[in-house]
Amino acid sequence: MKATDLSKPAGFARQIKAVLVSLLILGGLSAAQAAQDQGGLIAQGKYLAEIGDCVACHTPQGGRELSGGLPFETPFGIVYSTNITSDKETGIGYYSYRDFYRAMHEGISPNGNLYPAMPYTSYHLLTDADTRALYAYFMNTKPIRQENKASEISFPFNIRMGLKAWNMMNHEDSEFIANPAKSDSWNRGSYLVNVLGHCGECHTPRNTTFAMKPEAHFQGAVLDTFEASNITPQELNRQNWTHEDLKQLFTKGYSRKGTVFGGMYPVVYHSYSHLTEQDMRAVTSYLLDNEADIEELPLAFNGHDKDAPGYNIYMGYCAGCHGQDGEGRPNVAPALAGNATLDRSSVFNAVSLLLNGIVSQHYNSTTSFYAMPGYAEKFDDQQLTDLVNYMRITWTGQKADIRVTEVNDIRTNMKQALH
Ligand code: HEC
Ligand code: HEC
Ligand code: HEC
Repeated sequence: MKATDLSKPAGFARQIKAVLVSLLILGGLSAAQAAQDQGGLIAQGKYLAEIGDCVACHTPQGGRELSGGLPFETPFGIVYSTNITSDKETGIGYYSYRDFYRAMHEGISPNGNLYPAMPYTSYHLLTDADTRALYAYFMNTKPIRQENKASEISFPFNIRMGLKAWNMMNHEDSEFIANPAKSDSWNRGSYLVNVLGHCGECHTPRNTTFAMKPEAHFQGAVLDTFEASNITPQELNRQNWTHEDLKQLFTKGYSRKGTVFGGMYPVVYHSYSHLTEQDMRAVTSYLLDNEADIEELPLAFNGHDKDAPGYNIYMGYCAGCHGQDGEGRPNVAPALAGNATLDRSSVFNAVSLLLNGIVSQHYNSTTSFYAMPGYAEKFDDQQLTDLVNYMRITWTGQKADIRVTEVNDIRTNMKQALH
């Protein structure tokens, strides 16, 4: 190391000045760099929050974004989502990074264990870098002052300690492990779907303690009035979903295979419609378990059988919106030919939507769908069975083998779901 020559005060002063100037430049630069990095981190966190769909659950009906208070029915009673804006008293503005990490990974907030209505059971696989980006974003959201609502959980489940036991049995904080046999894109898709997208929270059936069954990943589960369909690669490929079909579904809420409705609508509206082009391909590659392009086969229309019992009902009540040959009408009603809701072994959604109808759904300034009326009062179980069987043989490769007892079971189930 070169000693500073104190015998040359002028040179020394110059040197000091040079050091100070460079420190100033460096300091200035690094502050600017840090601000830029922080800006980048917040933007990244905002994107991750969209893909994680925090808004869907943490925003009350007609209320302010992320201010909490949306009710969640659990088998034990009602839990309300909380205010996760940066407000320091009623939101999470007071959280340290450690607090945030624990809430996302372990389901533990500074106030105690969280009910698994908050999907930390999926988010726990978030990388540390992504958790940090989310934290940066949430500490910079607009603060909204709104007190949280107390949950209405019945004894003994209101004891948050009980959740500790649940966590010990059903939950372990671990890291996302990439599958080395698959590509980076496939693994990125798996991360976006299983971790942030928490798709399994609806699409994977649960065991007796309400934990997702790993062995039945994505095989479908009845939620309330609708079933989150089987979305295994086997089923999606059997239905001939292409990358483009899934992309259309996730960006616009409909594709040639039909529309989304029920619990799937907010997923599209708030979350997956924001996926970047590259992430969308990663997601579709993962869901289809195929990165190559898929050939689009023609949609099924097997011709009308005028003697089949459902024919007249279809023509009388449905053809006006869905078309004589089930071809659909733009901005009115989707096509039924090759429709994914009809082309599956489970008729739960087909029957349920005929009973309850579908509320009108809006996506953006150019895309929205009319509401579909419900026919619970109009048709008895036999008529519904005839109609569903008619749609199956006319527009899918499924058989007309639905029995009236199955339809009756779904109607009974529905009455219970709606009390
Ligand atoms: C499926 C619904 C759902 C989604 C999606 C969801 N949350 Fe939650 N979250 C909840 C519920 C319900 C609670 C309250 C649980 C309780 O009181 O035990 C909660 C609680 C929290 C808490 C604890 C807040 C506190 O008051 O201490 C944090 C932090 C949180 N969520 C962050 C997030 C973030 C970040 C996202 C998106 C990446 C997200 N949540 C997505 C339902 C959800
Ligand atoms: C007023 C117009 C209208 C009538 C009448 C109508 N539907 Fe619909 N139907 C719709 C709309 C709109 C949707 C999609 C709603 C959405 O997802 O936003 C739909 C969805 C469906 C779906 C699910 C397909 C999908 O991909 O969303 C099926 C199956 C269906 N209708 C069958 C029928 C049958 C059977 C009848 C007659 C009993 C009928 N509809 C009568 C408008 C109508
Ligand atoms: C809140 C519950 C919920 C979550 C979370 C959810 N889904 Fe769904 N999903 C549903 C329901 C209910 C249906 C059936 C209604 C329909 O077809 O839109 C469905 C249907 C689907 C369909 C089939 C659509 C069709 O036309 O047959 C696909 C594909 C799908 N979901 C993918 C996903 C992916 C990927 C995610 C994660 C980003 C996800 N879902 C998260 C509830 C959910």
